[in-house]
Amino acid sequence: MLGVKVPLTDAEQVKQYLRQHDLADTSYRSRRSEDAITFPIVRKFNSPWEFDVDFVEEEFEQHDHPEPLRESLRSHLSDGEMDNLITAFDIVGDIAIIEIPESLKRKELLIAEKLMYANKHVKTVLKKIGGHEGELRTQRMEWIAGEDTRETEVAENGIRLRVNVEEAYYSIRMATERKRVWMHVQPGEKVLCLFSGVGPYPITISRHTEASEIIGIELNSIAHQLAVENVALNRCTNVHLVQGDAHKVMRSLAADKQSFDRITMPLPHTAAEFLDDAVRVCKSGGTIHYYSFQAAGEFEKAVDAVRTACRRNGRQLDEFSLVKAGQHAPRVWRICVDAKVT
Ligand SMILES: C[S@@+](CC[C@H](N)C(=O)[O-])C[C@H]1O[C@@H](n2cnc3c(N)ncnc32)[C@H](O)[C@@H]1O
Repeated sequence: MLGVKVPLTDAEQVKQYLRQHDLADTSYRSRRSEDAITFPIVRKFNSPWEFDVDFVEEEFEQHDHPEPLRESLRSHLSDGEMDNLITAFDIVGDIAIIEIPESLKRKELLIAEKLMYANKHVKTVLKKIGGHEGELRTQRMEWIAGEDTRETEVAENGIRLRVNVEEAYYSIRMATERKRVWMHVQPGEKVLCLFSGVGPYPITISRHTEASEIIGIELNSIAHQLAVENVALNRCTNVHLVQGDAHKVMRSLAADKQSFDRITMPLPHTAAEFLDDAVRVCKSGGTIHYYSFQAAGEFEKAVDAVRTACRRNGRQLDEFSLVKAGQHAPRVWRICVDAKVT
């Protein structure tokens, strides 16, 4: 049988991706070795990540658990309803987040119950209402079944995070990207994590590197409060979190003559507006990880934004590299410019 073999550290996001794209063969159990996991899949796919995936032929044990969601609904839905059914869903901790088309609204409870039956660790099923919106990038949800909560705990790259899936932005899909960033961090670095959300960047950097100090800045008070709890949960002693607008906080850091070896800017919609302030608090020779959504063939626009901000502030973009950090829409990528500023 066909499988995809990935290191354990990347397992969670690969699992999510397989689910979201109906690639997982859910009738079979995955196989785990000391440092890797092999998921049974229905067909090969192009890796959307920076790392290559390893397709293998292996024997898998059949699940003795209930039939997959789609099969379990077949006898309850008409052919037309089956066509509209979106069986891909996100799982965040023990919460499943599903999309229900308007045409299936009357059947949403049935779908949610079948989903919980087929995924025993799911305790809550929520329905997405729209995408990530507004300055805080939050997403509206509606409760359908199970415990009526928006809070859960997730594991990412060896850390634990309390999240609120409706009130604060968090995406497990960025876990590999965070790992890529922390692998650049050198001992003694002072790191500024803008837009720190519930704390995944500052906490993973704290746990996996010898950075001397990490400052996180987040506008959303609920996300900030969760990040404070997560710093304690992960026993990070070198993380300091500030709740407020990144412009204002960076200006006061600059006024205090504080500067940083590394700055992360994971707000791809509007990070450009914060580049001037970021350049001003970046040490000479420091690195800015600047995220932006760009169409295929237009990635240089993001580099130009950093270069122009450097010039405006009497600085220079010394070296840079461009990395794809996930697909946002057809032909549109979340890219990261790793910019060395002198
Ligand atoms: C795309 S999310 C990233 C969150 C987190 N870094 C993560 O990876 O899960 C962007 C975050 O920036 C925050 N944000 C938006 N505008 C801000 C501002 N002016 N100052 C500080 N944080 C801001 C939002 O509330 C949101 O939590």
